[in-house]
Amino acid sequence: MSNDYVIPKHIGIIMDGNGRWAKKRGLPRINGHKEGMLVLKKTVETCKNLGVDFLTVYAFSTENWKRPKIEVSFLLNLLKYYIRSELDYLKKNKVALKFIGSRIGLDKKIISMMSVIEKETSDGTEMVFSIAFNYGGRMEITDGVKKIAQMVEDKELLPEDIDEELISNQLYTKNMPDPDLIIRTSGEFRTSNFLLWQSAYSEYYISDVLWPDFTEEVLIDALKVFSARNRRFGGV
Ligand code: IPE
Ligand code: IPE
Ligand code: MG
Repeated sequence: MSNDYVIPKHIGIIMDGNGRWAKKRGLPRINGHKEGMLVLKKTVETCKNLGVDFLTVYAFSTENWKRPKIEVSFLLNLLKYYIRSELDYLKKNKVALKFIGSRIGLDKKIISMMSVIEKETSDGTEMVFSIAFNYGGRMEITDGVKKIAQMVEDKELLPEDIDEELISNQLYTKNMPDPDLIIRTSGEFRTSNFLLWQSAYSEYYISDVLWPDFTEEVLIDALKVFSARNRRFGGV
């Protein structure tokens, strides 16, 4: 059976709309996050089964610290729960989990859990699954620029040696291809600081579906639309 869509090598997802999903049901926002986490588990499985090589999801931005303390601490605990409950699945299914983002501001326990699961799944060959947590594209670029400035100061590099490849290699996503397709749920048309450098030529797909309602069908719709797009990369 031939599919009427192609599978992008790298899919990014901005998982948005958990709060609105809960509100619609008269529930506290955190219920939306909990449901969203379950949907993430299913989405990872779906992408792996479809043969996606790289999946990167936006789970917590550098700006999300502005939210009420109780919501932030729920999200941090949810990440811990996710790590504990997914380790077996990821190992069994050869999915390598990586975290992209800054570790600054996270507590020691979470940082150590992140490192342990990254290490335990590092031989996964089926899919690289990255969770952008405490991630901000501007922060990522700023950190990269600092590293490059240091190399210049240390005389390891001349300013004229700075090129796009060097910059890409300072980012959390080094060694990953740029995302081909970025899906955002809940109908918002903005990047909210997700993969700014890497998304220069990504195709965007905006779905009105709120993240906890996301399904394989919505994903397939996005793949069909993506497959019909004409990516020119500045050419003709
Ligand atoms: C996305 O859902 C999850 C995070 C940003 C952590 P939101 O919490 O942003 O949900 P809405 O946008 O308020 O509906
Ligand atoms: C983007 O969603 C961040 C994540 C999905 C983790 P937000 O809900 O934080 O973005 P804005 O505030 O609508 O731009
Ligand atoms: Mg939101």
